Amino acid sequence: MCGIVGYVGHRPALDVVLGGLRRMEYRGYDSAGVAVLDGAGALTVERKAGRLANLEAELDAVGRDNFAGTAGMGHTRWATHGAPIDRNSHPHRDTSQRVAIVHNGIIENFAALRAELEADGVEMASDTDSETAAHLVARAYAEGDTKGDFAASVAAVCRRLEGAFTLVVTHADEPDTIVAARRSSPLVVGVGDGEHFVASDVAAFIEHTREAVELGQDQLVVITREGYDVRDFHGDAAQAKPFTVDWDLSAAEKGGHEYFMLKEIEEQPEALANTLRGHFESGRIILDEQRISDQDLRDVDKVFVVACGSAYHSGLVAKYAIEHWTRLPVEVELASEFRYRDPVLDRDTLVVAVSQSGETADTLEAVRHAREQKARVLAVCNTNGAQIPRESDAVLYTHAGPEIGVASTKAFLAQIAANYLVGLALAQARGTKYPDEVAREFAELEAMPAAVQKVLSTVEQTRDLGRRIADSRAVLFLGRHVGFPVALEGALKLKELAYMHAEGFAAGELKHGPIALIEDGLPVVVVMPSPKGRAVLHSKLVSNISEIQARGARTIVIAEEGDETVRPFADELIEVPAVPTLLQPLVSTVPLQVLAAEIARARGYDVDKPRNLAKSVTVE
Ligand code: G6P
Repeated sequence: MCGIVGYVGHRPALDVVLGGLRRMEYRGYDSAGVAVLDGAGALTVERKAGRLANLEAELDAVGRDNFAGTAGMGHTRWATHGAPIDRNSHPHRDTSQRVAIVHNGIIENFAALRAELEADGVEMASDTDSETAAHLVARAYAEGDTKGDFAASVAAVCRRLEGAFTLVVTHADEPDTIVAARRSSPLVVGVGDGEHFVASDVAAFIEHTREAVELGQDQLVVITREGYDVRDFHGDAAQAKPFTVDWDLSAAEKGGHEYFMLKEIEEQPEALANTLRGHFESGRIILDEQRISDQDLRDVDKVFVVACGSAYHSGLVAKYAIEHWTRLPVEVELASEFRYRDPVLDRDTLVVAVSQSGETADTLEAVRHAREQKARVLAVCNTNGAQIPRESDAVLYTHAGPEIGVASTKAFLAQIAANYLVGLALAQARGTKYPDEVAREFAELEAMPAAVQKVLSTVEQTRDLGRRIADSRAVLFLGRHVGFPVALEGALKLKELAYMHAEGFAAGELKHGPIALIEDGLPVVVVMPSPKGRAVLHSKLVSNISEIQARGARTIVIAEEGDETVRPFADELIEVPAVPTLLQPLVSTVPLQVLAAEIARARGYDVDKPRNLAKSVTVE
């Protein structure tokens, strides 16, 4: 949600800012805007509801020459307070139109601030919480202790704001300076040669520099052409963490693919290999920044996995493996439900918070709740230095590279692999697996990129099937054991991308309700377990398929290569390589991703930017 970029340098700011906004489109938004400082005291703003293309058309209409200048900022907004219309789009200005701000997050005390400003005679131009910040900065700069001190004015306002925010502020009186601040919302600084950037995400400036600085909580940065200066909200010098981005522009481009999502599906073998790399050294599983001791891991008596969306499904998959390997009870919980039901947590509970973005507000709040209850929190995250890993006791990074398509694909597979590493690390510390067993499990994981590659080489048949069933009203998904979360993920992908009614069920539950939904021609996708690895479950599922086929369903069966018993019951058979049972989700999810993407394409939808959805959901 909400993408933010700011720039001071030697290039035309409008081009840099629009380029940055384009790269952050994936975050999800419904309006966009820019502000440019021309260096001679003029501050020009344009904003427009809808896609970036609308803003660009408007800029062409008013003339891009009006936006000459080498300092500026931009914003893509995902509406929270106020409808997604031009007037509510960012940047917002104060009454004198000298100060402009862009904001990500929610200012929780905005009603009181707004009332205070209105009592002072300020007329609000929008329905947003964000606009208050523009008026407050203008006031702080015009009078009182902070008069004439831009950074101090922003800091003073930040001290008054409650809630989560990233703010980027420009002042026409200070045309060579941009001030940005953050609390619980993302903000990174890009360090170039004679130019500096601030953005929600490194993707915004990756084409210009890979050198970045991660701002800490309640920090503010002043960027100029020459440098950057980090302070806390009281104006004292503060430490921020420099890092080099380990991917480049090509990772953030489509590279000849029609959609990012299709590219990301193909990148899954690499995402898996990169996530596993370096985590098994000298016969031991090694996590990343581990601030949880081996003794703490030995003391763990219960594991919670908290996450949202696809990340939650990765947790459901991991439950089977972690319980099997460690004999510890594992509960998997939707992060949005977790803290509201008073979960039983103490210092021997390990909470694994799984989040691709590391920004998801529901998951972040679950982490905070767990830590308040003294539980240890380990984050599984794909984004360096994001808020969730920052607030956790330990972190294991997935190295899936940037995921731009809103619907998670390669990050999901990488999350499963990372969750499994957590399970093996626990088994190793607790001695529930001998070192040679841990080594064998890791070796099996290492063979998975090749297995996924094999699935990818045979997806043409699935695409064809997707086109043939694209007109269906609904699709059901069935699975058992680790195939159950795969069924849930398959249904989620189809909902997200094709706007089609889709439900995943545990196949054993079929007879307790869902079988009533079966009607003539209804496509039902069944994720089969291995006939060898899970013979009993396999035969039960074969019975389930024959029951639904007898009632007219069109059965689409994902089965292990050479599974002949299921063939007579499959109207469509999609074969995947034989792999150990616990690793099956890594191969059986892939055809379901392809199926959803192809159905969505056949229905004419934008696969990368499904309606109403955002990639990183920074509100609860
Ligand atoms: C959004 C995305 C999903 C994602 C979920 C959790 O809903 O559209 O694809 O699975 O958030 O995101 P996270 O970044 O926490 O993994």
